[in-house]
Amino acid sequence: MARDAVTEVRDRIDVVDLVQGYVPSLKKAGANFKGLCPFHNEKTPSFIVFPDSQNFHCFGCGKGGDIFTFYMLVENVEFREALKELATRAGVELEVGAARPPEEKEKQQRLIEVNELAAMWFNHILLNTRHGEAGRKVVEERGISPEMVNTFKLGFAPESWDALLNFLASRNISAELAAEAGLASTRDSGGHYDRFRNRLMFPIRDREGNTVGFGGRALGDAQPKYLNTAQTLIFDKSSLVYALDLAKDAIREQDQVVVVEGYMDAITAHQFGYRNVVASMGTALTEPQVAQIKRGSSRIVLALDADAAGQMATLRGLETMTDALDAEIKPVPTPNGLLRFERKLKADISIVQLTGGKDPDEYIRQHPESWPELVRTAKPFMDFTIDLLTRNIDLSDPEAKSEAVRRIIPLLRQIPDSVKENHYTRLLARRLDISEQVIVSEKRRSTLGGKSAAIRAGLKPGAVEKTRRRSTEDYLVALLLQHHQLNFPVLEQIPIDDIHDARNREIIELLKDPSTNELQGDDLIIAMDDELADHAEALLDSIRGRPEQFPSNILAETSQVLEKLGRERFTFLMRQLHQNLQEARQANDAEATEELKRQIAALTERRSRYDPAPSPYFRDTRTKQTY
Ligand code: CTP
Ligand code: MN
Repeated sequence: MARDAVTEVRDRIDVVDLVQGYVPSLKKAGANFKGLCPFHNEKTPSFIVFPDSQNFHCFGCGKGGDIFTFYMLVENVEFREALKELATRAGVELEVGAARPPEEKEKQQRLIEVNELAAMWFNHILLNTRHGEAGRKVVEERGISPEMVNTFKLGFAPESWDALLNFLASRNISAELAAEAGLASTRDSGGHYDRFRNRLMFPIRDREGNTVGFGGRALGDAQPKYLNTAQTLIFDKSSLVYALDLAKDAIREQDQVVVVEGYMDAITAHQFGYRNVVASMGTALTEPQVAQIKRGSSRIVLALDADAAGQMATLRGLETMTDALDAEIKPVPTPNGLLRFERKLKADISIVQLTGGKDPDEYIRQHPESWPELVRTAKPFMDFTIDLLTRNIDLSDPEAKSEAVRRIIPLLRQIPDSVKENHYTRLLARRLDISEQVIVSEKRRSTLGGKSAAIRAGLKPGAVEKTRRRSTEDYLVALLLQHHQLNFPVLEQIPIDDIHDARNREIIELLKDPSTNELQGDDLIIAMDDELADHAEALLDSIRGRPEQFPSNILAETSQVLEKLGRERFTFLMRQLHQNLQEARQANDAEATEELKRQIAALTERRSRYDPAPSPYFRDTRTKQTY
């Protein structure tokens, strides 16, 4: 690779364009753009985008960075996902996971069209024909409003072996294509027939709103209760989330998503105005489902079945989910020098327990107004799990206690916060009437013998651009990486919001994690995902071959580099502010002038955090000189 994908994407996507999509208030202000900050609440804009340097910075909350940082913050994703998404937008191909060939894309598009046509037809049958009579009756009985029938484009598949096939044929769609789209089944003899017959039809759409398949509800007690589209090129039940296309805005606005099990549960929630509700389609949540849900919010509430079996299923779902909520994979050194990887849970999951055998559909219809309260009182995931696993334990049965400990330990280990981890360790010890120490040592033991660790074999040759001029922040991070074992005191002082390169931020966070204390240089790289590893490797390469130095020199050097970084950042921001101030004065905008003065004062104040000793810069700002 001549240039790495990150640079390529950075060059192709304009930060102004990207931000504009999220900050409608963004307006040109001199050489820069200004708007209301999407990361904190404000009435006067202090969020600035700098087209020149392709950065953004908020003078209110201090957040800043490049396109990747922006996307990570606004979409609540990790660097890897931000890169993937932005690369797609920029038309940059990432090496991992080769893109689909264009023929396959075209085919997928065609299958979506066929499904959309079928959805329209089912909907027409339901609303306007005598064949839809049975469906209309169900809709009426279940109390689904006409508005929801329309929003969810519910439909009815008539009692016929070929009604849909005939309709599709009239639109020049062959039976073969209908079968590929999941709408027809193939007879042994080679002929085709309608897959969905005499069923209420729920079109299933992806996050973008493309209809990719259907769930068909049998009338009455006929079996199977639901018939779904079988796996097709565009339909994979395990990676779809029902109603996500309709819920995604509300999820972001409320910064919370509620996951229910059934189509009907989701529809009823939406009907009563609870629009942040999606359905898992009845199975335990899968990793791709969680990844999509989490894009809107990491505050996830599960409102699943009331019965005991349902709760065990919930737990199974959560166990997969805690795996999926990775994002942050932390290396943990083991005594034999290997690294194992632990995923730290970065979502806030809680569980609603519905009582009395009800599902959310029934609950909401009976008490529409108390749903928010029910959601609010959801139990945090760990409390739920500990309750569930210790509820029926016979305290005189050591086997059962041991089993409970074994099941909970992997979850305990994923708690990202050691205070909380300690809290739950203690809770578990109390519930099982054992000592905390036993759990702690059991935890350690299972770490050592742990299941297969996702260790990347060897280092990637790496796309190293030796020629690229490294920025001060790159240099700082390179030093920190190479000499991590010196246990840099500066690590805690780095104002993370001033680190522009999202990858550098990730590396600093990784270094702050105590589990990396014993590692440095290349050993740390093994712990990173590919993109991050490439960058880290380039950083290390850039300082390789330097003569050995005393630790004290290196410590002193990092402090100096950190100071330099602060000065650079400060100068840059101060220059922007003064430029804006000048414009505000020329425009006689008293309010903006005041606001900018306030921002300048705040920045000056912040300046002293980098460098407590008054520097020439510090004095200059007080005499209000321009830079
Ligand atoms: N499901 C499925 N196939 C089945 C049964 C269930 O795909 N044979 C999925 C559907 O997504 C369904 C969800 O699991 O919506 C929950 O199932 P269930 O609670 O049985 O159905 P409800 O959606 O509650 O439907 P109803 O209220 O009509 O019983
Ligand atoms: Mn139901």
